[in-house]
Amino acid sequence: MGLSDILCIRDLQRAAEGTLSKTVREYFNDGAEDGIALADNISAFDRYKIRQRVLRDVSSIDSQKQAFGSTMSFPLAVAPSGMQCLAHPEGEQATARAATRAGVFMGVSTFATKSLEDVKRAGDEVGNNVYLLQLYIFKNRKTTEDLVRRAERAGYKGLLLTVDTPRLGNRYNMTRNDFKLPPHLRIPNFGEKKVGPFVQHLTRDTTTEDDSNINDDNVTWETLVWLRSITKMEIWLKGLSTAEDAELAVRSPATISGIIVSNHGGRQLESALPTLDSLSEVVATAKARSRDVQVWLDGGVRKGSDIFKALALGADGVLIGRIPLWGLAVGGEEGVLRALDILKAEFQHTMALAGCTTLSEISPSSLARRTASGVYAKL
Ligand SMILES: Cc1cc2nc3c(=O)[nH]c(=O)nc-3n(C[C@H](O)[C@H](O)[C@H](O)COP(=O)(O)O)c2cc1C
Repeated sequence: MGLSDILCIRDLQRAAEGTLSKTVREYFNDGAEDGIALADNISAFDRYKIRQRVLRDVSSIDSQKQAFGSTMSFPLAVAPSGMQCLAHPEGEQATARAATRAGVFMGVSTFATKSLEDVKRAGDEVGNNVYLLQLYIFKNRKTTEDLVRRAERAGYKGLLLTVDTPRLGNRYNMTRNDFKLPPHLRIPNFGEKKVGPFVQHLTRDTTTEDDSNINDDNVTWETLVWLRSITKMEIWLKGLSTAEDAELAVRSPATISGIIVSNHGGRQLESALPTLDSLSEVVATAKARSRDVQVWLDGGVRKGSDIFKALALGADGVLIGRIPLWGLAVGGEEGVLRALDILKAEFQHTMALAGCTTLSEISPSSLARRTASGVYAKL
């Protein structure tokens, strides 16, 4: 199957599954525990239908979106997903090049299999783009501080602080398959320094005794003030899902520029709310306090119409985690680009058929929701 035979993300996922080992496929695709949060993220979109407005001039569609002082071609960014060299030898570097060519921002995981500098250098070969470093706050604060300073030096524009991972979710596949990085891969963002049991386990490293772990389970809202004190980059919180936490975020003296409504792609808390359902309460609370704060969503976005629905419910944009991994697996940089092109075309197509020519025309009145009686009604 060539890339031109891939017409939608479902085709891409199927093609990717044929190329990946069982261990990697399950690591990428599975959720925590029984996978309920993962499945719910996806099915939540189908509870909404699109109200189609007609007889409007849709010969020109403007899907561009401003953020971080730059323009993206449509309101979508690559979510920071770790260990992309499991999908393709060029890993995050291929993704960065594809994202740049498609005009979408690039999230880079702390647990990338290429260094944050090398990822940006690869993307810079094909054009300018916005790079965002996903961050954990480690017990050893110096480890986090080093990453922040390197990202700033390399020209990253923002930090996506992951806040839904005070401990790692129960991912049965990792235990069953004894998931480890193959010996030829590394997590170079840590240099020679190892960061505790998770990375030691992943890399089969038994030589260090650093007591820092994947994340510090003592991190609180106060810790954000420390993070603010060491960087001028925008700080976004990734993994928020309630109005209560949105309120704390926008009131934080750490000046939070953005919130990503996320449950880590269903990989953390089993039975977490579907992110699309969390979105409304977070948007209502955050935007009531600050019009400037951005609210984005990830989890379960698989189609252009999903992006449209998220925007109609108040999201400023969305991110995708697994789709770029499937693209990498199928065709490296070109595979990721194919996926991004499909999503952009589908999104613009949805806008046109729904009668919207600009993002600001996408609103709650664009949607209907299934009611208790099973009938769809305007929001
Ligand atoms: C294989 C894989 C690795 C991930 N690694 C990270 C990570 O290192 N840090 C993080 O904050 N989120 C990570 N995520 C979560 C994504 O950033 C994103 O929140 C999620 O994948 C969105 O859901 P989707 O896959 O349905 O698009 C990972 C997701 C996957 C599938």
